[in-house]
Parts: sequence; C-alpha cells; structure tokens
Amino acid sequence: MRFEAFSRRAVQQRGDCLVIGVFERGELGPAGAAVNTALRAHISALLARGDFSGRAHDTLLIAECAGLTAGRLLLVGLGPKAQFNRRVWHKALQATIGALARTRIASPVLALERPARTELDDYYFGRAIAEITGSTLYRVNDLKSTRRQRPPPLARLRVGPVEEASLGAVRRGLAAGAAVAESGALLRDLGNLPANVCTPRYLANQARELARRHRQRVRVRILDEAAIRRARMGCFLAVTRGSEEPPRFIVLEYRGARRGRAPIALVGKGVTFDTGGISLKDPPAMDEMKYDMCGAATVLAAIDFAARAQLRLNLVGLVPACENMPDGRAVKPGDIIASASGQTVEVLNTDAEGRLILSDALNYARRYRPEAVVDFATLTGACVIALGHHHSAVMGNDDALARELVEAGARTGDWAWQLPLTEDYAEQLRSNFADMANVAGRDGGAITAAAFLGKFTTGLRWAHMDIAGTAWTSGKDKGASGRPLSLVADFLSRRAAA
Ligand code: BES
Ligand code: MN
Ligand code: ZN
Repeated sequence: MRFEAFSRRAVQQRGDCLVIGVFERGELGPAGAAVNTALRAHISALLARGDFSGRAHDTLLIAECAGLTAGRLLLVGLGPKAQFNRRVWHKALQATIGALARTRIASPVLALERPARTELDDYYFGRAIAEITGSTLYRVNDLKSTRRQRPPPLARLRVGPVEEASLGAVRRGLAAGAAVAESGALLRDLGNLPANVCTPRYLANQARELARRHRQRVRVRILDEAAIRRARMGCFLAVTRGSEEPPRFIVLEYRGARRGRAPIALVGKGVTFDTGGISLKDPPAMDEMKYDMCGAATVLAAIDFAARAQLRLNLVGLVPACENMPDGRAVKPGDIIASASGQTVEVLNTDAEGRLILSDALNYARRYRPEAVVDFATLTGACVIALGHHHSAVMGNDDALARELVEAGARTGDWAWQLPLTEDYAEQLRSNFADMANVAGRDGGAITAAAFLGKFTTGLRWAHMDIAGTAWTSGKDKGASGRPLSLVADFLSRRAAA
C-alpha cells in the first residue's frame, strides 16, 4: 500500500475514485465545497435529490460522476457539523476504507474534511490515515477450508489537499503509520494463531525470522530449557513445568544508535496458552487464553517497527514464552519457588502465572543497564474490570515514564490510563512462608499484580502496561486488536528523536 499527500486541487488528482465528506443535512465543508465548485455544483445537485443524508459513517458510491476525471465519487457521512471531531473522523475513515475494499477501486483520492489541528496535528493526521487504512484492510489469516476471497486491489491512497507547509509533516506521518500498520499485522497474526500452532518454539522461530528480515540491525538469541535453568529462572521454570511444550526465552537486540547508548528494554508476557494450571480456569471463553502472548507479540512488533522506521535508539526485547498447563508435574498451590533475583515466592494461585515469568525476565533486563524498562502483559482480569476495553493500564515506579506512555496513547488514540502503584499495595503480597505470595486477593487486582513485578524492578526505571482489556476483541468480531503497538511506536519514536 502506497500513501501520498497532495496540495493541489483534489479534482485534478489522478485516481479512480474521489472521496468527499458530507455533513448532515447535505452541508459541505471546505474540501467538499471546493470539489463541488470545480464540478459546477454537481454535488449539491446530487445531494438535493435526497439519496444521501450525511449521517455519520454512511457511504454512497456513485459509480459514474459527470465531469470527474476519477470517474467514481464516494460520499461519506460525517454527521452533524457541530459535533465533528477526531472520533467521528476516525470512524468515517474506517467506513471509507471498508466501502472501498468492497469495490475494485485501486487508487482513491481522499478529500475528506479533517479534524481540528488542535485535536490532530499534521503528523498524527497522516499517521492515523495510514494506520486506520492498514488496520481496516487487515484480514485474519484464518484456516477456513472454503476458498479465500480475493483481496481488494486497493494499492495507492492519495490524501489532500493539505497546505504546502504541512506536506512534509503529513508525509512523515503517513510513512510512520504505514510502518505501524505493517508491524501491527504481525502482532495480530501472532495473536490470532491458535495455541496449537503458536507455541513457544513458534514464537522463537518468528523472532529468528524477524532478525533475518532486519539482518543489519537486529540480533536474536534463544535460551532453551537448559539455558533457562542455568540462568536460574525458577519462577519461569515453575510455570512451564506442567507443559509438554518446551519453553523458550527470547532475546532480541535492535541497534539503531551508537553501541554505548543505554537501551530501552521491552519485556512481553508470552504465555501461548493459559489454562490456569492446577488452579484451572472456568470453561467459558477459555479459548481466548490463546491471546495470553499478546505482550510478547507487542515486543516482537515493536522491534519490527523500530527496524522499519530505522529509529535511532537501542532496544532489547525480552520474551519468556511457555504454556500454563495442569499436569502431574505442574506447580501446585502452596509450592515455594526461587526467582532468578534470589527472592522466594509462595505460589498461592497457579493462574497468576504471568507475573511469575515476567519477574525473571525483568530481572534479566538488569544486565543491559537500560535507560527504561517497559513490560506488556495480558496480566489480570481485574484490569478489565477497572478500565474496560478502552484504556490499557499503566503503572510503574517512575511517574515521568508512565506519563510518557499515557501521552503517547492520547496522541495516537491508543488510550492508556495510569493506576496508582503506591507501597501500600505491595504489603498485600505478604506470605508466612516465603518472601512474598504471588496473589493478594481480589481487591485492586491489577495493581497488586504490578506491585509483585515492582519487587523485581527496584533501581530500574520501569513501567508496566496491563493490556488484558485492549489486546483483543471478544464476541462476533473476535480477534487481536493490534494494541498497544501504536502507543509503543509513538513512545519509541519520541525517545529516538529526543
Ligand atoms: N491471563 C490471565 C489474565 C486475563 C484473564 C486476561 C482474562 C484477560 C482476560 C492471567 O494469567 C490470570 O489468570 N490472572 C488471574 C490472576 C488472579 C489469579 C490473581 C486473574 O486475573 O484472574
Ligand atoms: Mn493465568
Ligand atoms: Zn495469563
């Protein structure tokens, strides 16, 4: 998919469909009005017939439009003019790409009205267009035996008119958005694959493949079970004990800056299937626990993005990957295990496995003396209760870092919200028999999980993102969402530019 921005009149652009926005009651904005004038009021005449009301997200394709070099015209509803904002625009754009994808249109010219610059500046305007286009065109790589529909021919999208002075920023945004969309497809593919395909070894092979694709800048190292044992990752080993699938610890290194520059470490929970272990989960929706490796997929995708965008910083990606299964050998409630940090943990609930594997991975990050550590995990059902499906949770021991992540979410629309991780929460993890327990009751469950991780990150600048509510969608549209890659890509891009 190619994205271009233009500054001249939209009607003069080459393409096979011109897309314009219409507000409710047939009102036109500046971009639509310019097209209407160029077509000698042909559009207002069309609207006067009353076939299209401009209701938000409605579309109408006019397959033959007199006087238009593009031939086709697509009208897109933008709703009431006074209520037009970034959110309405976002949905209208999704509707537009959806409508285009159902046709044979290959190179549309997008002359939609745009939200106010205060809501979305030139760069993020371009970035959003490429990202929304890419994610709307994403098709799950399913295993249906019926013949696959042929993909839409959509190959080039031109956006404008934008002012001459804005062209550079919009183009940079389009390029960044296209990279996010490409890496986002990798993230979603990995998430959507069933757990009998996407195993820890499969994830490791994907990491190898990633390093091969970006040979110049990305290195990979995979620790097998013996190496994990040598690294004394007792918590990680406890979780994988009940599984026939061997675990893998994936280490990815991205070099975009000088060797001496401290890296940012990205850590991702890679539980390729979470049954709960001996503390077995209830059957409803257990299939969705194939998504319990979305944190890991976020890390792989973030490194893929950094390489595509050639970000000038250094990154380390750390992924503990395993299954959480019940078995005769599985870790049991009450078992006490030793983490790589030397601290002991009483496993009161084997379903709180994510924090166990992450604790050893966070400890491993120390050897890189990172400038910051961020972990991504589908960690708690409690996070979904707290924030629902719209915001990811951010916690940590460095408010400035947490704020950076929250702000990256606001700029990209990949929303996140900070929860308070004060010392009080860690006290709830008290155990009579070990340094700590791995659970602390239901109350504040998202935060006590973070508090557990906090015991392994002292002295590091660390933030934790709980993506349990945002990484995938349930129900009819079940599928990986691609979140929070957009946020992470923006966070990293800013760090690279700083
Ligand atoms: N992977 C789950 C968290 C989860 C559950 C994410 C449902 C999304 C939807 C995690 O490993 C887990 O099981 N957490 C437990 C922790 C509890 C035992 C303290 C939970 O949230 O119930
Ligand atoms: Mn679990
Ligand atoms: Zn889990």
